Amino acid sequence: METKRVVIRDVENPEDGELLEAAEVLRNGGLVAFPTETVYGLGGNALDAEAAGKIYAAKGRPSDNPLIAHISCMEELEPLVKEVTQAGRMLAERFWPGPLTLVFPKSDKVPCETTGGLGTVAVRMPSDPVANRLIRLTGVPVAAPSANISGRPSPTTAEHVWQDLAGKIEMIVDGGPVGIGLESTIVDVSGDEPVILRPGAITKEMIGDILGNVEIDPAITGPMKANVRPKAPGMKYRHYAPKGDLVLVELKEETIRELYRPGSALYKEVSRKMGEWGKSWKIDRESFYMAWKANQEALAMEKQGRRVGVICTEETAEEYTVKVKRSIGKRSSAGSIAHNLYAVLREFDDLGVDVIYSESFAEDHLGQAIMNRLNKAAGYRVLWV
Ligand code: TXA
Ligand code: MG
Repeated sequence: METKRVVIRDVENPEDGELLEAAEVLRNGGLVAFPTETVYGLGGNALDAEAAGKIYAAKGRPSDNPLIAHISCMEELEPLVKEVTQAGRMLAERFWPGPLTLVFPKSDKVPCETTGGLGTVAVRMPSDPVANRLIRLTGVPVAAPSANISGRPSPTTAEHVWQDLAGKIEMIVDGGPVGIGLESTIVDVSGDEPVILRPGAITKEMIGDILGNVEIDPAITGPMKANVRPKAPGMKYRHYAPKGDLVLVELKEETIRELYRPGSALYKEVSRKMGEWGKSWKIDRESFYMAWKANQEALAMEKQGRRVGVICTEETAEEYTVKVKRSIGKRSSAGSIAHNLYAVLREFDDLGVDVIYSESFAEDHLGQAIMNRLNKAAGYRVLWV
């Protein structure tokens, strides 16, 4: 199949003429990849079992892993669900359109193929103008998983989609790089207690502000136990495994204590090193120490003849003397790290390194989503320093 690429000229204000053909492909049961504010999605008609089958085939994805139905306005929600629960309504009113997916009890209109056989359906209303306009023009809800081959990082540019899916789908709508870079937050609002199934840019803190309290599925915070079934079936798959072994570098609590205890040996050593190099104005003690240790470990591996890479940050980049390093963004801006994360992981796959050390980040706000994706990619391997 030849994949057509349509480049949108003004992504804030796409013209209907640029999207009509894509909408027609979707209505006729074909597949179109398109940008959203989170990652690129691989779209198909959510009410068409056959289109769902094509999505699973193109991605090489297990068909028990359900798809998210994307809508363009509130009126399109009711027909898909049995009931709009109170928590669901409150979150939708506050955060839609936006990077939030809500899981509701499904109506009979939604085929089991779309929901991987579940009695619930995940729904999202994207804010990206290209996505929103395309869904509206299509006139049906659009099922869209991330537009990557199963097991690869989610695509944040049309080029990533092209690398994975060219020749397998009818069309790619190129709206430039996405804004956020990590998949939407998923909240299950189908039961009595709302539960976060996947962290994203709508953070636990933001949801807590609306609902008062919200549970977190254990699949998010640690490795899955063999006998536990996560509520989002997708969370059970080792999402993406980099070709090299990824290891996260994290500071022990005891290290942090010592780093800030004047008089401790570590305090003195770090103060001297940072002072000597006049760094204290641009980098905090924890990041400095993390980079120092990560570099040491990476150099030791290089000595053993292994090809090593590090994932660093703007603030720490110059602390590293290893051959291969890539900055993932600014520590002072979690948004920049989310934005670059998948592109950096894709780059390391292309570089052919054996082992990758990555700095770790605070697990609050957007950091929870960042650490969730990094931990999954690392298979929860951590070097504690
Ligand atoms: O940001 C996003 O959500 C992107 C863009 C394209 O919208 N889409 C996306 O889709 O990340 P996907 O298929 O890569 O991830 C969907 C996740 C999977 O982990 C799946 O198991 C879960 O949502 N999911 C879908 N329907 C569900 C349901 N009814 N109950 C629980 N989890 C569900
Ligand atoms: Mg995905």
